[in-house]
Parts: sequence; C-alpha cells; structure tokens
Amino acid sequence: MNGHKALWHPCTQMQDLEQHPPLRIARAEGVYLYDSEGKAYIDAVASWWVNTLGHCHPRIMAAIKAQAATLDQVILANCTHDPAEALVAGLLEVVPPGLAHALFACDGSSAVEMALKLAYGYFAHTGRPERRRFAYVTRGYHGDTAGCMAVCGNPYYAAFYKDLFVPQVELPGPDCLRCPAGRTREACAAECFGPVQAMLEQHGPELAGVIVEPLVQCAGGFRMHPPAWLKKLADAARDAGALFILDEIATGFGRTGTMFAAEQAGVTPDLMCVGKGLTAGSLPLSATLVAPPVFEAHYGEFASLKAFLHSHSFTGNALACAAAVENLKIFKEDGVVEANRPKAALLAKAVRERFAGHPQVGEVRTTGFITAVELVRDRESLEPLPWQARTGFRVSRAAIARGALLRNLGDVIYFMPPYCITAEQTERLADIARQAVAEVLG
Ligand SMILES: Cc1ncc(COP(=O)(O)O)c(C=O)c1O
Repeated sequence: MNGHKALWHPCTQMQDLEQHPPLRIARAEGVYLYDSEGKAYIDAVASWWVNTLGHCHPRIMAAIKAQAATLDQVILANCTHDPAEALVAGLLEVVPPGLAHALFACDGSSAVEMALKLAYGYFAHTGRPERRRFAYVTRGYHGDTAGCMAVCGNPYYAAFYKDLFVPQVELPGPDCLRCPAGRTREACAAECFGPVQAMLEQHGPELAGVIVEPLVQCAGGFRMHPPAWLKKLADAARDAGALFILDEIATGFGRTGTMFAAEQAGVTPDLMCVGKGLTAGSLPLSATLVAPPVFEAHYGEFASLKAFLHSHSFTGNALACAAAVENLKIFKEDGVVEANRPKAALLAKAVRERFAGHPQVGEVRTTGFITAVELVRDRESLEPLPWQARTGFRVSRAAIARGALLRNLGDVIYFMPPYCITAEQTERLADIARQAVAEVLG
C-alpha cells in the first residue's frame, strides 16, 4: 500500500485504492492489457482514449526503434528534423482544409493552451485587443491546466479552482437525451441553438474564440450532438467574428467514424488541437494546427514583438514524431477509417442488444467507434441516479473483476476500444458490461 500512496494516481481518490488496489499492468498487446499474474483485460477505454490501433502495434514499435537508433530529441527552436517535418506534411494532408501550420506539444492540455494563446495573439497583433475572451460549451472539457480550466464547461474538473483563472463565456450545450424540442437525434434541427446564437451575438465583439469538442463531449459524460448543431456553432462563431477552435484531441484519428469529426459537419476550424491518437497512443505528442491568418499575425520583424513566445521542452520529440508519421501511414495504407465501420457498428449493436429494455438504462448512444450507456434512476423519468451511490464506478469495478478495463464517467459507462478489437472480443466485452451492470443494478 505504501507504494500506492507514493505514486499519486491521476484523477483518483487515493483512498479508493485501499479497497481497490490499482491493476499492476505488466504488458500489453493488441486489445489486451495483462497484469503481473498474466490475467488479460480487454482495454475497453483504449487507455484513456489514446490507443487507437492496439497496444504495441508492431509497425509503430518498429518506427520508434528505428528512430531511436539515430536521433532521440533535439531542441526545436532553431533546429529541425525529418520526423517533425514529415509529420507536419502528413497532418496537413488529412486535417480539414484551411489549416497550414502546426505547433507541437506533448499533451492535449498544452495544445489547447497554445490554441487559446494564438487566438488571443491574433487579435492583439491585428489591432483588436478587445477580443480576448473565449466562449465554450457546457459539459465541454479541454484539459486540466489553468487556461483549459477557464474554458471547461464541466464543474467537476474546474469549479473548485475557479479563483485560478479568468471566467469566460459558457454557452448552453446540447442535451440530446433530454431534447427540449422532443426530437430524436436523427430528426434534429438544432432548435436548442437559439440561446447559444443569442449569447454569441451579445458577446461577439469581445470574443477571440469559440472552442468545442466536435460531436462528442467525452469527459462531460459522452454527450453526443448531431453535425447540424456543430455546423450552427461554426457559423455563429464566424458571424460573431471569433476564431473557431476545434478540440479533436479525443475525437480525432478515426474515433467518430471519419478521420476528424469536423468532416461530418463540413466545418473548417481556424485552430485545431490533436493529441491522444496522434501517435496511436504510443508516446506523448500533441499538435495545434493553425490557419494562415493566425500564423501571419505572429509573423514579422523581431522588433515587432509578434513572435509566439511559447515552448515545451520536448516540442517535436523525434521519437514521438516518428511514431506519429508511421501512424498516418498505417491509416492511409490500411484504410483504417473504412475498415473501422463494420467493427464500430458491431460494437454498437452488441451493446444495444445487451441493454435493450433495461429499466435503468436511459440511453445507449453511438458516434463512430464510441458507444456509451447512460444509467439513470428509471428509463421513464431519465432522472439521474444519486451520485453518492457511485453506480458507474461500481459497474466499472465489477467489469474489471471480469476481465475488461471498462470505465465510467459518473453514471455513464463507455466503450472506446482499440480499433483492432475482433468480433469475438466485442461480444465478450458487451457480455462483461451487461454482467457488471447486473451485479450492481440487476
Ligand atoms: C477533448 C479533450 N481535450 C483535451 C484533453 C486534455 O488532454 P491531455 O489529458 O492529454 O492533457 C482531453 C483529455 O481527455 C480531452 O478529452
């Protein structure tokens, strides 16, 4: 236990570990994690949504190994290297049109911090310093650093630290499960957008940017909105004169059924953040992609003091860039996005079948290769379960005991496995989830 306490685990009440010691993972391969006694667990959450292609993917591991033989890390200010340049070129081929530059960091939060600072700088350097606020969406999550918390619409993560950051503008996010217009997702006409439109009109002149997780608000409980809502947000952000910032850190690299979620709504961001699946989850790397006007606003003579004075020690780490370059090659050569479609459909079907008619399942929802189950007090009222009961957490523990690393966000349990999951593993995962829910709720 001492060892557990010395290692302070992220996003964990450390006291929980007395009852539930952490899994000691000794190795991983494909969809499986193996503990030190050799027991296998299906990694139903792709290890915090990063491991897209499966653990220890042979091509990614080989690319890292090959890179390690020549160059590990070099300062990226005034130096460059092939893997970083190849990665920028590869990214620009697959991201939405209009993005032309990339800055690297090591985690998603840092990529979001860069996007916020770049948007702020864009307006300051082009003579509109009054535009320095950001609008974000209720339930949105963009990371845990101070700038990210300021645009975090999720009270669990940010409210406690509110004195540490400058308050920004919260836009009422969509709640499709409890749709105020009584529509199904398929028939959505984004009627709920009215208040968002009004707020963007009201705050427009002071806004530098509008930030959103496209299609799925993952950390906010896997709330999913249709492309129609996202399109309205992009248009309204433009009308308000603000930069449109997409956070594709969780949704990017095929997770929502297209390479990036933006494609499904036909929206083009001014700034876009990627991370997590960028290296297929093998090494920490993130990037902020930038449209030309933002780059140009920071470009000029030294004395103009426009340079973007922002760096991270490991910016553009060569090993991580090599892994990401290989990841992009695999996407292209193996047609990963297309190959995922039947597998994602099977996951959705298997989970739906197991939970159909369950009196305490409010909704089973799917976007691409993400399926989530929202547990509620009862299906008719859709009232939430009491949070103190920690129902979702108990389900996740019951699933772990049965051999699946399934996690919850509140009372939403979610399935976001590596794409290499087989049909048999998918069925087994759905069975484990159903048994775990049965153990806790019946
Ligand atoms: C949408 C989104 N943005 C930003 C982040 C922060 O990324 P990181 O944890 O790598 O800092 C996350 C992490 O879960 C995320 O889901």
